[in-house]
Amino acid sequence: MKTNWWKKATIYQIYPRSFQDTNADGIGDLPGIIQRLDYLAFLGIEAIWLSPVYQSPNEDNGYDISDYQAIDPDYGTMKDMDTLIEEAKKRNIKIIMDLVVNHTSSEHPWFQSALHDPKSEFHDFYVWRKDIDGRPPNTLQSNFGGSAWTLVPELGEYYLHLHAKEQPDLNWENKMMRYEIYRMMNYWIEKGVGGFRLDVIDLIGKEPDQLITKNGPKLHELLQEMNQNTFGEYDLVTVGETWGATPEIAQLYSDEDRDELSMVFQFEHINLDKQPGKRKWDLKTLDPKELHHVFSKWQTELTGKGWNSLFWNNHDLPRIISRWGDDQEFRVLSGKMLAIYLYFLQGTPYIYQGEEIGMINYPIKSIDEVDDIESRRMYDERISLGYTEEEIITSINAKGRDNARHPMQWDDSKQGGFTTGIPWLPAGDSSEINVAAALDDPDSLFYTYKKLIQLRKELSVITEGTFESIQTEDAAVLAYIRKHDGEEIVVVVNFSNKPARFLLDATQQIKEILIHNYEKEISQTLLPYEAYAVLLT
Ligand code: GLC
Ligand code: CA
Repeated sequence: MKTNWWKKATIYQIYPRSFQDTNADGIGDLPGIIQRLDYLAFLGIEAIWLSPVYQSPNEDNGYDISDYQAIDPDYGTMKDMDTLIEEAKKRNIKIIMDLVVNHTSSEHPWFQSALHDPKSEFHDFYVWRKDIDGRPPNTLQSNFGGSAWTLVPELGEYYLHLHAKEQPDLNWENKMMRYEIYRMMNYWIEKGVGGFRLDVIDLIGKEPDQLITKNGPKLHELLQEMNQNTFGEYDLVTVGETWGATPEIAQLYSDEDRDELSMVFQFEHINLDKQPGKRKWDLKTLDPKELHHVFSKWQTELTGKGWNSLFWNNHDLPRIISRWGDDQEFRVLSGKMLAIYLYFLQGTPYIYQGEEIGMINYPIKSIDEVDDIESRRMYDERISLGYTEEEIITSINAKGRDNARHPMQWDDSKQGGFTTGIPWLPAGDSSEINVAAALDDPDSLFYTYKKLIQLRKELSVITEGTFESIQTEDAAVLAYIRKHDGEEIVVVVNFSNKPARFLLDATQQIKEILIHNYEKEISQTLLPYEAYAVLLT
């Protein structure tokens, strides 16, 4: 296994709109991120995944780009961006750009040209098909609901959009388009960014006529071509958002010898509270043992063959403590348990802003409170299908993306120190959950994350060791062991709010407690959400 900086590093995701506002317009901005770099350096992270800050009409908050080489005025200027890269570098932090190249905004000049002039060279940058008897070319559905095809009556053609109609899909069959994208990526590489997070990258090899969207036949060829023409020669990190990856597919993306990406960011564990075959909105109760099974599978099947991301949260997911922990009585304890379980696995951990202080979901009562395009589209669709208002709001409260997008809570002042103006999305209750309080409390979740990040830098067993699951009798107790070069770490967590039992093998002697979320001896009884990691002799 090669030693790359990103194997021991922890990456912090910033959703710029909600991180820190500096000019009172209620929208987070680049100067705000610069102001908070010391905080991030103190936490110990080594890279920032920056959600899109490019020029955008913001139909999908920046995941609809109208100019890849301009900064949206909401966030600042290109000069601010250069300053951010430079200031981050001084603190040993790299900036990872979010690369959204499956689609552009419908306001991108390429699409505008394609739309108004079918003879333009840009027309073929997108995916167009004729109607079939007045109907869309086929049944492909958008990820946000409804048909993936929209008719342009003046052209008599439909264009493909696997997300909103304001996000037309690029045609990766078109070589000129691909080289324009590579040129743009090289522009960012020359600016000194630390890498790219590749948005829905598993979609670029699509074969729409055969109803293939994910993992199309040309996907890996395309990624190899991208690698050769852009980041291949540099020491950059590249992480692909790959919803449909299995460990075998993950290997194709991230095998060191294949020259594609550094790692995948896959969601198998995240989907475990979804009813099989249904959309994410259709919930079922999480079974901790099933969760452990999925993690164990990835740990054993990808090791030595590829690289995975470790995460509970991002800007598309509800807050993990509300989801699988307890956001009331055991907020901090359950947050620590979740972190301890994840941080001794092989892979690269990602923290989503606010996760390190245990931010929780923001429940809504009515659709008027929702900004997110995905939730709004789902609402309209399900209302027309006859779902009740109550059912839909329950789904949005459980899974809606806005849960993660309410402003970062810096202190207990009005608007949580995020803005002195009116935030674009209301601020949650920051009276207890905020950065200032977390920094003041040596027992806070923040210091658990800081410690875990540090341990990952120090103990190579975490990055390089083998993984074995430990059998446990109690349905809520999850345990595993990592081994490398005579070093052994055992991790035990109680994934529930009730006491449980677990006995370490009598032959296993504890040499050192690396981390433990209760101040008590390690014994057979695990208290609610108790979690520890120990080094064995
Ligand atoms: C990815 C992003 C999500 C966005 C979608 C379309 O899944 O994470 O926020 O809406 O792609 O770009
Ligand atoms: Ca602002």
